Amino acid sequence: MQTVELFFENLWQQYTAINPQAEAIHDLLEQRGETVVNDHVALRTFNTEKLGIDALSQIFIAMGYQQKGEYDFIAKKLRAYHFEHVENPNHPKIFISELLIEQFSPELQTIIQEIDAQVEEAEIQSDEFLYSGRPWDLTFEQYIQLLQESEYAAWTAAFGYRANHFTVSINHLTTFFDIDTLNQFILDNDFALNESGGLVKGSPEQLLEQSSTMAPLVNLEFKASNHLIPSCFYEFAKRYPMESGRLYQGFIAASADKIFESTDSKK
Ligand code: NI
Repeated sequence: MQTVELFFENLWQQYTAINPQAEAIHDLLEQRGETVVNDHVALRTFNTEKLGIDALSQIFIAMGYQQKGEYDFIAKKLRAYHFEHVENPNHPKIFISELLIEQFSPELQTIIQEIDAQVEEAEIQSDEFLYSGRPWDLTFEQYIQLLQESEYAAWTAAFGYRANHFTVSINHLTTFFDIDTLNQFILDNDFALNESGGLVKGSPEQLLEQSSTMAPLVNLEFKASNHLIPSCFYEFAKRYPMESGRLYQGFIAASADKIFESTDSKK
């Protein structure tokens, strides 16, 4: 069992290896004198018994995390939970979503079952599994087949286990007072932001504002060929206090629904 800090360091290294954009933005912020704190990290999976949220979250529970909010994404056929660290609120929250495969075609379900069959149950219990990448074979034809039904299914099958995004906590920044100023800074440095649902998702009234970059293309290895496909993105979140004075820690399903589209190849 590694420490929470080391786990996130390993996850960050794997994430920035294919998403140097995040490291570049992170460095730009640090050059301004900021210390970047992560609001949350997001992971994607399929809802099979072996690979579902219940199985994957065991490692976080062992690290001192507790399950909190539940979110449904009807149109995208996804479910998600968020987890918070019980003792240390400065550890990033975890947002894990899973594809509800029984709601898709028999063809999609067959591909996911083939994927699932290639993973050993013992592998999942290792904390390294969540930054181990893709433990199964996937052809580009299968990727395209999944893409026709679900962008999320295609991304998860292609990239496997890694952070889909890290999220900068705007509340912890000292030289940006609002999300608009930060978005402008990102745009001025020539990074593209996700415009689905507007640059800013959510509002102060909803107690959470979010924005994200668009995932850059990466040359990914498939079985027998390589192809350029959208990879991971970087997110920015500002939280507002509840009536109790404590910052809201949950997520807004309608906003997350648009954030998912940051890996959309059609955008
Ligand atoms: Ni997020």
